[in-house]
Amino acid sequence: MKKSKKKIVITGGSGRFGSQIKNFKTKHSTYFPSKKKLDILNLRNIKNYLKKIKPDILIHLAGLSRPMNVHEKNINKSIDLNIIGTANITKVCSEQKIKLVYISTNYVYPGTKGNYKETDPLKPVNNYAWSKLGGEASVQLYKNSLIMRVSMTEKPFVHSKAFANVKTSFMYHQDVVKILFKLLHKKGVINIGGKSQNIYEFAKKENKKVKKIYMRKNSQTKMPRDSSLNLTKLKKYL
Ligand SMILES: NC(=O)c1ccc[n+]([C@@H]2O[C@H](COP(=O)([O-])OP(=O)(O)OC[C@H]3O[C@@H](n4cnc5c(N)ncnc54)[C@H](OP(=O)(O)O)[C@@H]3O)[C@@H](O)[C@H]2O)c1
Repeated sequence: MKKSKKKIVITGGSGRFGSQIKNFKTKHSTYFPSKKKLDILNLRNIKNYLKKIKPDILIHLAGLSRPMNVHEKNINKSIDLNIIGTANITKVCSEQKIKLVYISTNYVYPGTKGNYKETDPLKPVNNYAWSKLGGEASVQLYKNSLIMRVSMTEKPFVHSKAFANVKTSFMYHQDVVKILFKLLHKKGVINIGGKSQNIYEFAKKENKKVKKIYMRKNSQTKMPRDSSLNLTKLKKYL
């Protein structure tokens, strides 16, 4: 795929990350259909909308993310939005030959040793990550696709406290958007994020007042302790 001007449809444009894409200036023509115009649970609706717009690329953000424990409490919603919704999008992109870019998460890795490469085995620690991995499974069947496993968060950092014993590769949404637009022509799987560090170290750079806390060993919170990413592939691409 050439790096020329493209028509791009973005699902989930009203969400946290989608709003940052809306703010980003790009040479491409971007479309942000509302849930009513493009409901990922309604195949006919997806088909009709995409037939009308005829995009070159679809960036799929729509789904269920937070609060994280909603995926443990309401598995129907999680399965519908993140697995079936993504499968619906994949089917239509494949039928209409639209390049599909799927935003997944670094939480699909086991989250124990960190420094995860794209080829490492996957084993989510919570239902949110399983639902995202379920989405990835359908996207993998369609070869004209790119799966981005992203470690990101909002700027400013939303919490007043941050874990000093939980490591990840956070990058702010605004910085992920810039990378996303540089990689649209790529295919396969790619990790996206920033420096590997604990969440407290990351957060305090922007907010000196953030309080240091520790996740207890026997904590009920199903959160990977070290989901940091190996970014060798990303660095090669940029
Ligand atoms: N936020 C992060 O830090 C993070 C990290 C890694 C990966 N991700 C992934 O990035 C994506 C975006 O995350 P986010 O935090 O921006 O999510 P979000 O704020 O929860 O937004 C979800 C979006 O999905 C839309 N949506 C819900 N049901 C829909 C349906 N049936 N049809 C069409 N659209 C529907 C929502 O529309 P309404 O507002 O109209 O309901 C909203 O625009 C998600 O796939 C998430 O898993 C996020």
